[in-house]
Amino acid sequence: MSSHADRYLVRPGRASDGAELSRLQAAVQLQPKTGGSPHSGIAAWVDGLMSGDHPSVKPDDFLVVEERSTGRPVASLVSLRQDWRLAGLRLPVTQVELVGTDPEHRGHRLAQRLFAALHERCAADGVPIQMIEGIPYFYRRLGYDYALSNGGASAVPAAALPAPEDRGMVVRPATVADATALARVDERVGDDGALVCPRDAAVWRHEIAGRASADLVRRQVTVLANGDEVRGYLVHGARLYAGGELAVFAAACERPADWPTATAAMYAYLGDAGRRYATADRPFTAIHPILDVDHPLARFGPAGVPRRARAWYVRTGDPIDLLGRLAPVLRARWAAAGLRWPVSELVIDTYGRAARLRFTDGELAAVTPAPGAADPSTDPGTHAAIPPDAVLQLALGYRTLAEVLDAWPDCLLRDRLTERFLAAAFPRVPNRLWTRT
Ligand SMILES: CC(C)(COP(=O)(O)OP(=O)(O)OC[C@H]1O[C@@H](n2cnc3c(N)ncnc32)[C@H](O)[C@@H]1OP(=O)(O)O)[C@@H](O)C(=O)NCCC(=O)NCCS
Repeated sequence: MSSHADRYLVRPGRASDGAELSRLQAAVQLQPKTGGSPHSGIAAWVDGLMSGDHPSVKPDDFLVVEERSTGRPVASLVSLRQDWRLAGLRLPVTQVELVGTDPEHRGHRLAQRLFAALHERCAADGVPIQMIEGIPYFYRRLGYDYALSNGGASAVPAAALPAPEDRGMVVRPATVADATALARVDERVGDDGALVCPRDAAVWRHEIAGRASADLVRRQVTVLANGDEVRGYLVHGARLYAGGELAVFAAACERPADWPTATAAMYAYLGDAGRRYATADRPFTAIHPILDVDHPLARFGPAGVPRRARAWYVRTGDPIDLLGRLAPVLRARWAAAGLRWPVSELVIDTYGRAARLRFTDGELAAVTPAPGAADPSTDPGTHAAIPPDAVLQLALGYRTLAEVLDAWPDCLLRDRLTERFLAAAFPRVPNRLWTRT
């Protein structure tokens, strides 16, 4: 772990840091919302993460800056490890949360040091992707770029919600007895090639019943059922947002054919939940799905009021390694498109380092790193020159090749064949993530 021969030391969190980190984070996060007082929802979230009862987070998933003279934590972040699936491929990810520095210690590059330590740890642990929602622009300075959509589905005004009707499908609150069935649904929902964040039964139990009621990221998990059979789920906020909106974080159906009926049942349920949460000073106004614009719940639901999609910041320390991990997906996509590469190598240069994609009989056999060309734009051995951030956007299916070519003049392709190959390799990927916090 990195340390600095100065006033501060960067180290992993310890169980004994619990009370201090809870106090620190509650005092620095979301202060405009509390008017400067500690945020009880943040404190409860940190307490839950540090408790030892969380299914995947341990105290040393926090990184802490300690002031040497006092031994006190003065800045911290937490790294929330999770495995996503991208078109069926396991993709280890760290979601970074609770980044905060005590106001008296700001401006000493403590956030920067925490991120440097985090990136070192991710490289050592083989976690290729780091992501954070974060302050606009700030994380660009730490090597992040926007590369995952975050929301974008229309908000549905309360008055436009359907009344419940009896069409066989019901939505009801989940209990821990549903956890195994929900994990089974998660195993199926990435089958269409989407980007998903599956939960196993232990994690579902935690989401359903393991969080303190004040925990900022506690959600209400409900089950889509047909009689006794669990066919999907709907996850919404445990309270109304300012403005009276009820957020939806996830919706899934095990069988795609269920969506039209499921959507009607889900929106009717959400209307009931929104009215239940309403108070005299916070009336229920709308459902706000924090889902992609093309999510089935949005497509089959009532027309709403369009919302601009936001995005997550994403970083990878090694775009060549990321391309190598994607090899099975690339191979499958080229096979599905009936494409075979005619020579033994396809070289993608990322302006510094290059990926050599080796082919046997037209099929991808391996991806190996190599030094980049001095000038990839003119190098005769280079098929494509793609800046690293554009590789990240393509790899996650956030932007298509055509969009990257349009936005990045330094994304260069040698010929039409390369363009056809890379367009088939990197389609837009539906984002169905409900990330783990
Ligand atoms: C954001 C925060 C963690 C930065 O901590 P820090 O240890 O002072 O960070 P660093 O010293 O590494 O970087 C400081 C730089 O970030 C900038 N910065 C800090 N907060 C910022 C904000 N909200 N928006 C834009 N820039 C910001 C500072 O102006 C400074 O810029 P400079 O280098 O040009 O002077 C700290 O201000 C904080 O705790 N804020 C409240 C909690 C929060 O918003 N956390 C982030 C949630 S994603």
